[in-house]
Amino acid sequence: MPTTVLTFAEKKRRGERIVVITAYDALTAAMVHGAGVDAILVGDSAGMVFAGHDTTLPVTMDEMLYHTAAVVRGARGAFVIGDMPFMSFQAGDDEALRNAGRFLKEAKAQAVKLEGCDPQLVGRMVKAGIPVMGHLGLTPQSVHALGGFRAQGKTAPDADRLFEDARRLEEAGCFAIVLECVPAALAQRITTSVRAATIGIGAGPYCDGQVSVVNDLLGLSTGYLPKHAKRYANFYNDGLNAVRQYVDEVRGGVFPAAEHSIELRDESREQSPSRANAPARDPQSS
Ligand code: KIV
Repeated sequence: MPTTVLTFAEKKRRGERIVVITAYDALTAAMVHGAGVDAILVGDSAGMVFAGHDTTLPVTMDEMLYHTAAVVRGARGAFVIGDMPFMSFQAGDDEALRNAGRFLKEAKAQAVKLEGCDPQLVGRMVKAGIPVMGHLGLTPQSVHALGGFRAQGKTAPDADRLFEDARRLEEAGCFAIVLECVPAALAQRITTSVRAATIGIGAGPYCDGQVSVVNDLLGLSTGYLPKHAKRYANFYNDGLNAVRQYVDEVRGGVFPAAEHSIELRDESREQSPSRANAPARDPQSS
């Protein structure tokens, strides 16, 4: 059964964990969809893990639409959520609504995600038929306002404020809310109090589901792994070793071998003047 917004509510009701992973390109999308995730988030984390920026702030609408359309093409039938980048929804509700609509209209996503708590804007999007996933806690687009990539909701007043924000987003119609880097006890309190499905990242085990950045999970990164992330593979090292072997084989004349080369047909071979330029020996046969 393909995932819809109703699946999130249904899984929450049944106590079945919801699995979300990010993807930014068609092939990775096909892989995670094939593995059976419930939804794919085309996160603006693309700006960091794909494009090499230090923050998500430089990511543009056009870049997000490009990544989202690629993911939709690679994972036919998947539930794809497009992440609204910095300043695509903060400067005015009309512009925000139009930008949210572009994710569904142009990139063919089924939902959008936006950081922070703006119930009025969320309400307008939901009214326009755009499913909205909220995002509270560590909201990376506010990295400078937060004083860095820091856990949120650790003091009682902060926890209460986030709890209220979650209630307001639920009231506004969010079908799900990402809780990023907040204490597990706060995530549990929110999860048991709101109808919207909570999707945690660094928010402990009590959320209705989990989201992970695919590069962290696959080990497709060079350095820093966030404390909350778990590495299930080491694609970077595997890739490095494969490319090193390729470099050695090209330099050593081992690749390409005869089976990677194109043979002339017999009759052309007899006529071809280029035969005189053929390599003197097959490196594999020596
Ligand atoms: O951009 C992203 O990948 C995200 C997830 C970490 C939730 O917002």
